[in-house]
Amino acid sequence: MNELKSYPVWDAPTRWFHWINALGVLGLVGVGLVILNGSALGITNAGKITLKTLHVWIGYVFVLNLCWRVVWAFLGNRYASWRRMLPGGPGYLRSLRSYVASFIAGTPEPYLGHNPLGRIGVAFLFILIAVQAVTGLLLAGTDLFYPPLGRWFAQSVAAPGTDPSTLVPYAPDMYDKVAYDEMRALREPYAAVHKYGFYALLVTTILHIAAVVVTEVREGGSLVSAMFTGRKTLSEKPLDP
Ligand code: HEM
Repeated sequence: MNELKSYPVWDAPTRWFHWINALGVLGLVGVGLVILNGSALGITNAGKITLKTLHVWIGYVFVLNLCWRVVWAFLGNRYASWRRMLPGGPGYLRSLRSYVASFIAGTPEPYLGHNPLGRIGVAFLFILIAVQAVTGLLLAGTDLFYPPLGRWFAQSVAAPGTDPSTLVPYAPDMYDKVAYDEMRALREPYAAVHKYGFYALLVTTILHIAAVVVTEVREGGSLVSAMFTGRKTLSEKPLDP
């Protein structure tokens, strides 16, 4: 057996992003599930407003963390970069075929950063969380009149003579009915994307966790601990030093 060697992989900002994102998604999924089943659970309008407000505040942390990661993909170490994170680039298909063949043969090729198959999973996760972030920010503006678009929506639905900055959620007397109905129609497709994005993210997150566990077991490596310590231990020379 070759000697084990420890390599630095995930820099501190990447690790912080990962765990803040994981907690954020957990919180958003949890509160989102209650919002989704609000009527069945008999939640009052006041309760719905509290839940949506909580969801949006967790959402802001989640969005800021995501924006930070986008910036860090330009500034961070090579394993944090777009090039090593997303599929594509010169020789990608060849490396994907080779990794899949080695995985099936039971001798997976060693990678320090994401392996070529993992990069496809990461891309899916990234797209889904970005979609949730964009649609969520828009929805936050419509019912709660929260930033970044809340002021604009409030101005467009306020009843004549009502100061838009005083609008509160679920107060039909304060809204111009036609403008409010138009806003509800406008938000509908975004709400649908947010809901189905949530289901897709649930499935992708479960696949992500399963893939990490399978890789950890099959490669006997340090995949999970590396997201805490930043270091991976390999017995063979990695293909992506
Ligand atoms: C991982 C990310 C997210 C997940 C999994 C998620 C999940 C959900 C779910 C399941 C619902 C209930 C959908 C429904 O009732 O039809 C919901 C609603 C909502 N989400 Fe998110 N969400 C995420 C991110 C965000 C973000 C970043 C924001 C804004 C900052 C946000 C704002 C909202 C709002 C305002 C609602 C209420 C929509 C309504 O009034 O019907 N979400 N979310």
